[in-house]
Amino acid sequence: MNINEIRKDFKILADPAYVYFDNAATSQRPEQVLEAMDAFSRTMNANPLRGLYEWSIKATDAYEDARAKTAAFVGADDPSEIVFVRNATEALNLVAFSYGLEFLKEGDEILITVMEHHSNILPWQMVCRKTGAVLKFIEPKEDGTITEEMLKEAVTEKTKLIGMGLVSNVLGVRNPVEKAAELVHKNGGVIVVDGAQSAPHMKTDVKAYGADFFSFSGHKMLGPMGIGGLYARHDLLEKMPPFLSGGEMIEYVKRDSATYAEVPHKFEAGTVNASGAVGLAAAIEYLENIGFDAIEEQEKKVTKIVYEGLKSLPHVHVYGNPDPEKHSGIVTFNIDGCHPHDISSVLDTEHIAIRAGHHCAQPLMEFMQEKLSMEFRATARASMYFYNTEEEAERFVEAVSKVRGWLGF
Ligand SMILES: Cc1ncc(COP(=O)(O)O)c(C=O)c1O
Repeated sequence: MNINEIRKDFKILADPAYVYFDNAATSQRPEQVLEAMDAFSRTMNANPLRGLYEWSIKATDAYEDARAKTAAFVGADDPSEIVFVRNATEALNLVAFSYGLEFLKEGDEILITVMEHHSNILPWQMVCRKTGAVLKFIEPKEDGTITEEMLKEAVTEKTKLIGMGLVSNVLGVRNPVEKAAELVHKNGGVIVVDGAQSAPHMKTDVKAYGADFFSFSGHKMLGPMGIGGLYARHDLLEKMPPFLSGGEMIEYVKRDSATYAEVPHKFEAGTVNASGAVGLAAAIEYLENIGFDAIEEQEKKVTKIVYEGLKSLPHVHVYGNPDPEKHSGIVTFNIDGCHPHDISSVLDTEHIAIRAGHHCAQPLMEFMQEKLSMEFRATARASMYFYNTEEEAERFVEAVSKVRGWLGF
């Protein structure tokens, strides 16, 4: 992988003064993605799936080609197992409102980890409020690890749904979704794997995970904002009721009733984000051209420099697994006496962008504060992607080493 050549595809990264280490929040987009979306708008923009004329037919074909590409990318059996949504959050809500409200009942248990993103917590809280199901949490070890034994202990015969991020957006740790799938399937339940932080970094294989549902966001994997995907097993989609209703998701509408379109269109109400889907397909093509082996290799090099560099600094606390290879490009840390917001603002004066705060994972922040005696219920987080360089990592560590001084300690 020639990183200098790759960076030419990302115009926003052209100015070497800027270091973008907030990729877990959203990634940057290469020219190829922007051009694909532009070409859609310039040459075929028409409402897809409706018109019987050339532009609309082209738009429909582009949209459905994007679905086929996305299905192959996640390892689905068939394109109909991909529902296009706005983002991972909407994908998870779709599962909760449709599957959760229809198939879970009082006394059932929903098991999630304490390190879930709020998007994989709040929908289940809603399902529990409405159905009488009970929400349970599994806590990791201090370094973020969840073992098979911990899972076996947490899953009871009442566990009917497990929600688990494959990769944590705070600790970067990969969770044992395969084992969780095996356990919940024994109960006739399902597992919802949140792939928002894994899909950009590693080869996705929903079958190998044993996932019944898998959520992801296009904007975290080089694509545009406003498009994401839900993979769902075809037989589940068939029996699930629609989430949103209105145009495009119907077969026939009478005054007081309706029948629905076939899967996956039953779940795509209203005009779809076709240019977004085309952008996502271009992003997938870009990632596949580089290859996940090369992507992981580059991320590991950069992450190692950041992790080991921060570890060596006095007053800096780095969280998660002691092996930087197990961080999926994410390094979360704190500095004695410095609120994470101040760390981020000070680094911004050096044109270094990181995330600071609770990372939409407040239950994890509470857990970490208690277990690891964190000064604040918040952390700073550097998150790297394959287009980041070793020089950027070194500059970042150097800047962090000065933060305390800059803040007057
Ligand atoms: C693990 C995880 N799940 C879900 C989400 C939600 O993604 P989005 O805001 O694109 O819906 C995020 C976003 O940071 C995330 O990190």
